[in-house]
Amino acid sequence: MQTIYWNLHADADSDNKAEVLQAAGRLLRQGEVVAFPTETVYGLGADGLNGAAVAKIFAAKGRPADNPLILHIARKEDILPLTSGLTANARALMEAFWPGPLTLIVDKSQLIPDEVSAGLATVGVRMPSHPVAAGLIAATGRPIAAPSANISGKPSPTDAQAVWDDMQGKIAGIIDGGSCGIGVESTVVDTTAAVPMILRPGGITREMLEAVLGAVEVDPALGGQGDFKPKAPGMKYRHYAPQAAMYLFEGEAAMQIPAVAAKAAAQGIRTGVLCSEKIAAQLPQAENMLVSAWGQDTQALAEKLYSLLRGFDKQQAELIVAEGVGEDGLGLAVMNRLRKAAGYQIVTVSDGRLCAKSGTLLPEFMLK
Ligand code: TXA
Ligand code: MG
Repeated sequence: MQTIYWNLHADADSDNKAEVLQAAGRLLRQGEVVAFPTETVYGLGADGLNGAAVAKIFAAKGRPADNPLILHIARKEDILPLTSGLTANARALMEAFWPGPLTLIVDKSQLIPDEVSAGLATVGVRMPSHPVAAGLIAATGRPIAAPSANISGKPSPTDAQAVWDDMQGKIAGIIDGGSCGIGVESTVVDTTAAVPMILRPGGITREMLEAVLGAVEVDPALGGQGDFKPKAPGMKYRHYAPQAAMYLFEGEAAMQIPAVAAKAAAQGIRTGVLCSEKIAAQLPQAENMLVSAWGQDTQALAEKLYSLLRGFDKQQAELIVAEGVGEDGLGLAVMNRLRKAAGYQIVTVSDGRLCAKSGTLLPEFMLK
């Protein structure tokens, strides 16, 4: 399949924007798949009320059939036909955070194809704030079902090049709207429970939700340890994963990244280092060392996280050592993605020595 590439980048001729959105909307109404930018990550869109069109998304991504999709709408009231009823909490969150990076899990209506909800009684709905996403949904005139536009298991795409790398030849079109601002996916909140629960941390933080709702729970299964099954089916997969073996250095362990990375590189291992400017300043220049510094704060890390992980794949890193951040604000989402990317290979410090969480064996160069 020939994939059309539309460039709506900031410096491109903006006069053609309406035309591009009309053309892409027409393809979506015809049951084709089109990728588009949102404020979080790029989405892989299809007509959300057409089961056969939605099935094409699963085929293009190689996505397990038990993982439901989010429906994207352009106006708040467009949620009403999609749900059998909204709780007071759902209404409060729509008022506070839509349009924006928040997905509400609500009871579904008869309109929702099984392909979207993967057999669940609920459906996820979100109203994105990105002007291209909003314009595309309006031009299509239907809710757009869209997961992140990556091949399943790879880091989500935050620019159109990453979408092209994964989806070229598999889908009808890609709209390039530049880089996504937030960089991690939307927060998914189950609004059907008595106490609303965060099923996936994201762009709207726990603190922001609590300011509106009071008490909010976080799905206890997100820690990755124990036998709990996450309530968002997608959270059980080893997602966001680069090809290299990745270790996440949490807390004080981060201070030892320069020494560990130097040793690994000296042994001839192509070592990617994902860290703040502060740690990067302490890294020696070395062959085999690929340094990706994200800057000072968690927001900068969120914005660059997926493209830096994809960059390590392109540079064929064999090992990635990454610095963790605090879990307040956007940190909860970033640490969730980093831990998953690392396959829960987490390194901490005990009695001044590096040690791993149970179940992880540390390579010899980390031990001495
Ligand atoms: O920011 C985002 O949310 C992006 C952009 C494109 O909007 N989309 C996205 O979709 O991240 P996806 O499919 O990659 O992730 C959706 C997550 C999955 O973990 C899925 O299992 C969960 O939401 N989910 C969807 N519907 C659900 C439902 N009814 N109940 C529980 N979890 C649900
Ligand atoms: Mg995804």
